[in-house]
Amino acid sequence: MSTVVLIGTQWGDEGKGKITDYLAQKADIVVRYQGGNNAGHTVKVDDQEFKLHLIPSGILYPGKLCVIGNGVVVDPAVLVKELDYLANRGVDTSGLRISANAHVIMPYHKKLDAVEEDRRGEHKIGTTKRGIGPAYMDKAARIGIRMVDLLDEKEFKAKLVRNLEEKNYLLERVFDTDGFALEEVFEEYMSYARRLAHYITDTSLLINEAALAKKDILFEGAQGTLLDVDHGTYPYVTSSHPTAGGACIGAGIGPTRIDQVIGVCKAYTTRVGEGPFPTELKDEIGDEIRNNGAEFGTTTGRPRRCGWFDAVILRYAARINGLSSVAITKLDVLDSLDTVKICTGYKFKGEIIREFPHSLRYLSECEPVYEELPGWKEDTSGARKLEDLPENARKYLERIKELTGVEISIVAVGPKRSQTIPVLEIF
Ligand code: GDP
Ligand code: IMO
Ligand code: MG
Repeated sequence: MSTVVLIGTQWGDEGKGKITDYLAQKADIVVRYQGGNNAGHTVKVDDQEFKLHLIPSGILYPGKLCVIGNGVVVDPAVLVKELDYLANRGVDTSGLRISANAHVIMPYHKKLDAVEEDRRGEHKIGTTKRGIGPAYMDKAARIGIRMVDLLDEKEFKAKLVRNLEEKNYLLERVFDTDGFALEEVFEEYMSYARRLAHYITDTSLLINEAALAKKDILFEGAQGTLLDVDHGTYPYVTSSHPTAGGACIGAGIGPTRIDQVIGVCKAYTTRVGEGPFPTELKDEIGDEIRNNGAEFGTTTGRPRRCGWFDAVILRYAARINGLSSVAITKLDVLDSLDTVKICTGYKFKGEIIREFPHSLRYLSECEPVYEELPGWKEDTSGARKLEDLPENARKYLERIKELTGVEISIVAVGPKRSQTIPVLEIF
């Protein structure tokens, strides 16, 4: 039996969807435990591409249970659309289960996300405007609406009335925009409830029973370590816990149940949205990486900021998540470069630092210290075992391992399921 938590080690979009899909072949259950449809996970099966935002990437294998845990914030409109999208493409979605405790994203959350971002002006976070922050705010403020409430018309209406009083006041009086009509929202959400009711259940019970029955369980993180509300580049973060600890809270399992934590890490670094990024490349090499790697957001289509691999960040992610090993993705994207750089530490006011700093001002003044390695200038996308990789590509991976102390368990050399090199056995 094995229980594996898979997380992003950088700022998201590391290829978690692809690695989840790869590992899900051997898992019985795949669980999302935090975030919402701010996530965009692209999975390529042969020549078919699937873009998933809420449903775990394991759904592409028939017969797997796919759980949306209590820690996820669910936009039911998006979920219904995603179910239709998968059904239209011939994917069986009967294995989906949704936690009764998961919070619901309401239309006012989406609107508040947008107007609050506008009001922040130059201090904007660059959110996905999917209502994620406002939904988690209501959860912490103890006024949120949960999936279980959708199953009880009276309870739902009472909560909606109370919420709309406050949100309409905010929208109309503070933000000078339109509020929402009770009956319209009520009817819309009751139609989602009818559609989703049979998926809603006690998912913590289901997961724990599966663990006792020695099933293989894979927890699919969304976002990344540096977007964690506690451990990331606050306030340029999301409002949940994408780190490994988030799996326990967001799925309702104890830490003693987790066997391994796999970090997913790009062979370089990207970031979407605002906030400091020490190894960012604002030159033609950054453009080359963006073009080679098709670095445009799955959710918002925004161009992703690109930069060199940062060993300070992977060491930090190894500490915060207790990584057992790492999956290095998108190695093929660097194939065309003459040389590749690895950031080994930061220089701050003449001093070299090796640990990721807490202060954003400090971080934005840090200059990366680089080690330069020769490129390999060869197509790696056909490699299926480590020995197939050019020597310089293997040296690059070896140096990442030396600098971070983290074992490499998987290397990805393309978006397809088959373009994956297994290095260590996971399940
Ligand atoms: P996630 O949010 O962590 O699941 O990552 P995204 O799906 O948002 O972004 C990763 C993108 O890179 C997707 O379009 C994947 O299809 C693609 N991808 C994943 N692994 C590889 C790889 O090894 N090489 C290449 N070229 N593309 C990859
Ligand atoms: P996946 O799962 C990359 C970023 C946004 C913004 C910040 C806050 O595909 O890796 P939010 O809407 O969550 O309040 O936005 O977080 N962000 C992501 N960046 N990948 C993601 O998810 C992200 N989800 C949120 O760009 O900077
Ligand atoms: Mg993504």
